[in-house]
Amino acid sequence: GSGKFFVGGNWKCNGTKDSISKLVADLNSAKLEPDVDVVVAPPFVYIDQVKNSITDRIEVSAQNSWVSKGGAFTGEISVEQLKDHGVKWVILGHSERRHIIGEKDEFIGKKAAYALTEGLGVIACIGELLEEREAGKTFDVCFQQLKAYADAVPSWDNIVIAYEPVWAIGTGKVASPEQAQEVHAAIRDWLQKNVSAEVAPKTRIIYGGSVNGGNSFELAKKEDIDGFLVGGASLKGPEFATIINSVT
Ligand code: G3H
Repeated sequence: GSGKFFVGGNWKCNGTKDSISKLVADLNSAKLEPDVDVVVAPPFVYIDQVKNSITDRIEVSAQNSWVSKGGAFTGEISVEQLKDHGVKWVILGHSERRHIIGEKDEFIGKKAAYALTEGLGVIACIGELLEEREAGKTFDVCFQQLKAYADAVPSWDNIVIAYEPVWAIGTGKVASPEQAQEVHAAIRDWLQKNVSAEVAPKTRIIYGGSVNGGNSFELAKKEDIDGFLVGGASLKGPEFATIINSVT
């Protein structure tokens, strides 16, 4: 891989004050390899609790952010408010927001641009649906989603790309290391041709979709897999630690 290994835990819409307190305690006491960036993304309402209890070793991410400065936007959370809580990252373009909520490429690109301009790091998600893979459109879909980010963002310095094939998310059907590597290499090649020769090797490209403590080591060995975005298995402290420690 390239750059420091990066592992994010996306807790999605899960947890209670009690379960999160236990998860944070487990993470605080876990032995984590030093050469890994570790980030957890709690639901908004638990960010304050997590930020106030988790070790400084682990950074906190949001799962979404508003597209511009806060104001009269009922139900939204602004980048400024996230920064006020010490949040360092935001996950954008997650497939659940694309396909369940209906967020579109251009809107996601604008969100990424605003968050980056305000100093947050962006975990920029992309990935194809099963029918798109079966129709041989995996690269087309990923490149189109990448282009929407590239057209909008001011710089790639603070972006981690998360490749998450939608058919692998929450299904237990992890992509094989070869399947993931093939797309990661294509993404890096796209960056090389469409962004720059400097950005391509240094941008971290992480894999997400049914990563667990049993499959992370084989995936992490692949040349262009620079870490993971973990959903379900990030809700279990010891298993998440195993995934973090699969850095090679
Ligand atoms: O953001 C994380 C991904 O959607 C993966 O979720 O590990 O539960 O499949 P999962």
